Amino acid sequence: MPFVKIASQSDLPAINEAKEFPCGEKTICVANVNGTITAMDNVCLHRGGPLGQGVIEKGKVVCPWHGWAWDPVTGQAVHNPAAKLNVYPIKIENEEVLIDLESRG
Ligand code: FES
Repeated sequence: MPFVKIASQSDLPAINEAKEFPCGEKTICVANVNGTITAMDNVCLHRGGPLGQGVIEKGKVVCPWHGWAWDPVTGQAVHNPAAKLNVYPIKIENEEVLIDLESRG
């Protein structure tokens, strides 16, 4: 069963906020852009900043350390699409938030 629970639906970030959730040995950044929930790696590729502690601006997750912006749908850095974080399928079922860490995009 590839999907695992990372949170309850009530724990999800509010509209246009991000939040971090532990999942196994990783931490996942869950973003809510106008109601669209996405999941990507939490560790910024610049110097390892915690993306889930950042804010969302213009639909992008902004790293709290030095401001790199990340597209939460594709995982790509806005200024350099070659810099790409893993993104993961995420779904809500029976008020549980489920993520599939094995199918990275
Ligand atoms: S660690 Fe994220 S912008 Fe520097």
